[in-house]
Amino acid sequence: MATVIIGSQWGDEGKGKITDYYSKKADYIVRFQGGNNAGHTVVVEDKTFKFRLIPSGAVSGKKVVIGNGTVVDPEILIEEISELEKEGIPVKLYLSERAHVIMPYHKLQDSLEESLKGNLKAGTTGKGIGPCYQDKVGRFGIRFVDLLDKEVFKEKLSLFMSMKEALFRAHNQPFRLTINEVFEAYNKYADYLRKYVTDTSLLVNAALQEGNHVLLEGAQGTHLGIDHGIYPYGTSSNCVAGAACTGAGISPLSIKQVLGIVKAYTTRVGTGPVPTELEDEVGTYLRDRGGEYGTVTGRPRRCGWLDMMLLKYSHRVNGFTGIAITKLDVLNGLETVKVCTHYMVGNNPLYEFPASMKTLAQCNPVYQEFPGWRFDPEQVAKSGFNALPEAAKKYINFISHQLAVPVYVVSVGPARHQTLILREVFS
Ligand code: GDP
Ligand code: IMO
Ligand code: MG
Repeated sequence: MATVIIGSQWGDEGKGKITDYYSKKADYIVRFQGGNNAGHTVVVEDKTFKFRLIPSGAVSGKKVVIGNGTVVDPEILIEEISELEKEGIPVKLYLSERAHVIMPYHKLQDSLEESLKGNLKAGTTGKGIGPCYQDKVGRFGIRFVDLLDKEVFKEKLSLFMSMKEALFRAHNQPFRLTINEVFEAYNKYADYLRKYVTDTSLLVNAALQEGNHVLLEGAQGTHLGIDHGIYPYGTSSNCVAGAACTGAGISPLSIKQVLGIVKAYTTRVGTGPVPTELEDEVGTYLRDRGGEYGTVTGRPRRCGWLDMMLLKYSHRVNGFTGIAITKLDVLNGLETVKVCTHYMVGNNPLYEFPASMKTLAQCNPVYQEFPGWRFDPEQVAKSGFNALPEAAKKYINFISHQLAVPVYVVSVGPARHQTLILREVFS
C-alpha cells in the first residue's frame, strides 16, 4: 500500500522530518514532482541532512526512487549521492528514465524570465525548475532515456540549444553556452548516473503488488502548486496527492493514506500575498525561534499566524486522511496564539480561498484567539501527547475539528525523538 505525504501550506512544513519518521516502516520512498527547489531537512542526532532530490528516506538506508514527474539536475544529484556516500550511507537509488533533465540553459532562462516578470515574479529558487517544466509541456524537453543515448541526446540538444539561443538573442541577452561543452559535461553525468536509471513505474508497481509499503514524499506545498497554488507566484509542478499517481506512475487506487503536513503557523518564501503575514515583532519571534530561513536559498521566510483558509482548501483538493502538526514548540511562550478562520474583503466575508491574486491581496484575516502555552519539548517528548499543556491540546484539537481529520503526529522539535506519534500510516 502507498501513503502520500503532502505539504498543506507554502512548503517547508517539515515534510522531510515526517518522511524520515515513517520511512522506518516503508520499503520504498518516492519523490514524484519538483526538483532541487526542494530542501527537506532530516536531523539525526548531531547530523543534519538537507535533501534536495533524493527522498528523505535515504537516511534509513531504504530504497529511494526519483519518479518520472520530477525534474532532475544531474550535477546536483551526483553531488547529493556523493555526500551521502561520504557519510557512509549506501544510496539505493532508482531514477526514472522518463524524468526530465535540467539543462544549463534552464537556469539561465529562470533568471532571465524572473527579471522580465516585474511584479509577477515568484522569487524562484533559480534552479531552472520552471523552464524545465515548460520544455516538458512544450515537448522539447530531454528525458534521462534521451540523455543516455548519445545519438538522440546530440540531436535534441543541438536543436533545443539553437531555440534557446534565439530566445536569448531576442531579449538582447548573452548566451555563452556551446553545444559541445554541454554535450561533453552531460555525457559525463550520464555515464555516472546510468546505473540508477530504470523504469521506476514498473518497479514501484511490482513493489506494491508484492505488498510493500511505499511512501510518496511530496515537495513544495499545495498552495505552491501549478493548478491549486497562488498562480503565478508558485512553482511549476502539481504539489497535490493526485500528482503522486502521474509522477510515480501508479494507480490512485493504491494510495490508502494521504498525510497533510501542517506547520503550526504560516511561512512563505517568495512573493505574492500572504494574508496572515506578521510584519511585527511576533513575525520576528516566529522566524527566530523557528529558524525560518530558506533551506535552499537562505532567504528569510515571511511568517504569520496559522490560516485555516489555506488548510481547508488543501484538504479539499488532497483528501487528507490524517495530519501531522509540526513546529508546535515554536509557538511556546506567546501570550496569545491566533488562527485565521476566514477573510473579509471590504465588508464581505470570504469562506473559500480565492483564485484571484487581486482578491487575495485585499483579504483581511479574521482571527480566533487562543491562550498561549509553554512546554519543555524534551519532557513532552519523553512523556507523550498527554504531557502537553491543555492550551496546546486545545489548539491542536481545533485544527483537527475544523478539518474533520485526525491528528497522526505532533512534532515538538527538529530531532527524531521530538515526535509524538498518535497513529501509524503503515500497520
Ligand atoms: P520541508 O521542506 O517541508 O521538509 O521542511 P524544511 O526542512 O525546509 O523546513 C523545516 C525546518 O523545521 C527544518 O529546519 C527542520 O529541521 C525543522 N523542524 C521540523 N519539525 C520541527 C519541529 O517540530 N520543531 C522545530 N523547532 N523545528 C522543526
Ligand atoms: P520544499 O519542498 C518553499 C517557492 C519559491 C518561489 C516559487 C517558485 O522545501 O517545501 P521555483 O524555484 O520552484 O520555480 O520557485 O516556489 N518554492 C518553495 N518554497 N519550499 C519549497 O520546497 C519550495 N520550492 C519552491 O520560493 O516562490
Ligand atoms: Mg524545505
